[in-house]
Amino acid sequence: MSISVSARDGATISRLAPVKINLALHVTGQRANGYHELEMIVAFGDFGDHISVTPALHDDFTVSGYYAPFIPLNNDNLVLKARDLLRAQNPSRCLPVHIHLEKKLPIAAGIGGGSTDAAAALTALNELWQLNLPYETLLELGLQLGADVPMCLHSQQNGAPLLVRGIGEDLSPLVEFPALHILLINDGTALATPTIFKALHKRDNPSLIAPDAFQSIDEVCAYLHKTRNDLFKPAETLAPQLQSHLHELTASGADFVQMSGSGATCFAIFSTRENMLQAKQQIRQAHPDWFVVTTQTYGSH
Ligand code: C5P
Repeated sequence: MSISVSARDGATISRLAPVKINLALHVTGQRANGYHELEMIVAFGDFGDHISVTPALHDDFTVSGYYAPFIPLNNDNLVLKARDLLRAQNPSRCLPVHIHLEKKLPIAAGIGGGSTDAAAALTALNELWQLNLPYETLLELGLQLGADVPMCLHSQQNGAPLLVRGIGEDLSPLVEFPALHILLINDGTALATPTIFKALHKRDNPSLIAPDAFQSIDEVCAYLHKTRNDLFKPAETLAPQLQSHLHELTASGADFVQMSGSGATCFAIFSTRENMLQAKQQIRQAHPDWFVVTTQTYGSH
């Protein structure tokens, strides 16, 4: 399934900022600047935040959505950093703009958040301002904003799952990978990514087994059972309840469960949509105050 994240309504350009799910995350080293060498399998779903950009008399930034009260509205926001970085490339073309962010993804949750918003903003503004910056240039700018922004920029072009290496800049689309039925849960715990990386005990962990072509969800799950999320242990020291969340997902009938990114969002893959919806209902009933969302990830076709 190809991704469709862009829409134009008059002068407004809107884009989905898709949820990012780290299906596997191996930490294999650390660079002199402190950043970690990673090997990850990443998928993007049809759920996420929404960014819209409209020409305006003055720059403006507004937010809505359940998680809007939790994000900074000043220049610490990655969306505004993205706007300013892009504007610096060609100040005379980049006229005032109203950016609206509908925040549906929890904050500091390991599923993209600010990075996917920044990628959607870069792409939407490149189009609105008719800068025509090539994808490669956007990738370079994105990396200046954060290590996860390049992979999220890829999701703006083509949602195919990725093998990601380096600190997050080395992207290889997976050529044969099915769409997945995924349930995401978060109990409201915010985990700061730098804190989780700092709490790692071991940084030179074994590499991923190179991903093959996957014909079915079963084959993906069989592969993922041989992978890890090396950030789970440090996340668990700060949020010990994570292990029981994974058990709860397994008990709900999942074929594979894991934490995404630096947490604390956990996810479950189901072999069928019906099983996923049943589990969602069960977990929502048990935990009415949790973030409990289903998504279909984009496959390679
Ligand atoms: O690049 P970004 O600001 O999104 O990264 C947040 C933090 O996560 C970094 O400050 C760093 O502590 C950690 N990180 C890392 N290695 C990576 C990516 C992120 O150590 N490859």
